[in-house]
Amino acid sequence: MSQIPLTHRPRRLRSSPAMRALVRETELHPGDFILPFFVSEKVQEPVAVGSMPGVFQLPEAALVAEAVAAHKDGVNAILLFGIPAAKDEIASSAYDDNGVVQRAVRAIKAAVPSLLVITDVCLCEFTSHGHCGITRFEGEHAHVLNDPSVELLARTAVSHARAGADIVAPSDMMDGRIGAMRKALDAAGFQNTPILSYAAKFASAFYGPFRDVAESAPSAGDRRGYQMDAANGNEALREVALDLEEGADMVMVKPGLPYLDIVRRVKERFAVPTFAYHVSGEYAMLKAAARNGWLDEKACLLETMLAFRRAGADCVITYAARDLAKWTAQSA
Ligand code: PBG
Repeated sequence: MSQIPLTHRPRRLRSSPAMRALVRETELHPGDFILPFFVSEKVQEPVAVGSMPGVFQLPEAALVAEAVAAHKDGVNAILLFGIPAAKDEIASSAYDDNGVVQRAVRAIKAAVPSLLVITDVCLCEFTSHGHCGITRFEGEHAHVLNDPSVELLARTAVSHARAGADIVAPSDMMDGRIGAMRKALDAAGFQNTPILSYAAKFASAFYGPFRDVAESAPSAGDRRGYQMDAANGNEALREVALDLEEGADMVMVKPGLPYLDIVRRVKERFAVPTFAYHVSGEYAMLKAAARNGWLDEKACLLETMLAFRRAGADCVITYAARDLAKWTAQSA
């Protein structure tokens, strides 16, 4: 007879697909995924980006068509980034009511009113130097000035809301921007526009491919003076606490997989809607391995998303959202 006690036989609950389904703790649904889009004023046709297979810089008309198609496939929300024709030191095109993001939001909302449009609120795609705020340079060193940047970010958020954005998502990591944005939105009559804060955003090397698509790499210096140090977990909790105090409705942790400990701690501590960003570098790694035949793309993506949800993420922002929506609708 076996030495293993009868009470120590967890494999009983793995004996068949039906048994496994009965005890499964985490399920995936199409509504769990948010799809990023890049709309560009500089292109006439979709432009593919080498480091991110399946991701394109889109002119407005193509963006609207893609948004409609994604919604049909079950995508419930998109995250919009803009690439303007003109950039300057004060990111004027970011808070222009006729800017690339504002026009795109109006076009999408007109075509598919039920698709939630989240706008990324940042200045880095709109500044000539690629930093996320007003910047003074000392040689190679970039000082991003906090308070003047916050003012412009708040203006940008209001301008997005005026265009019809359902949710604004500040990704700049300036101090005090959530409070300033909430105040500005309320004053402009947008009391009901939620803020999804990139609350714990780390200075990460995994953003490389994104900066190719968004044309937002800093011309000098780096983002370590405003984005968080990858070494710090407690600090992420302090950042989230501040953003919630200032009025954030939802918080985000970014990047994703390497930071699941942060996702878990944020969810356990604050119990608020907690999103995670499966960023460009994470997506690029998976795509590259799949293209080489080294990984099964669908299986790895689904497993990755389960890991996010199991860690406590309510939603995942991922470039694979459209495929994931299709796959998870089929299995539902
Ligand atoms: C803008 C912004 C970035 C990302 C989202 N918003 C780039 C950055 O901070 O340099 C990265 C997203 C990704 O890598 O997929 N500040």
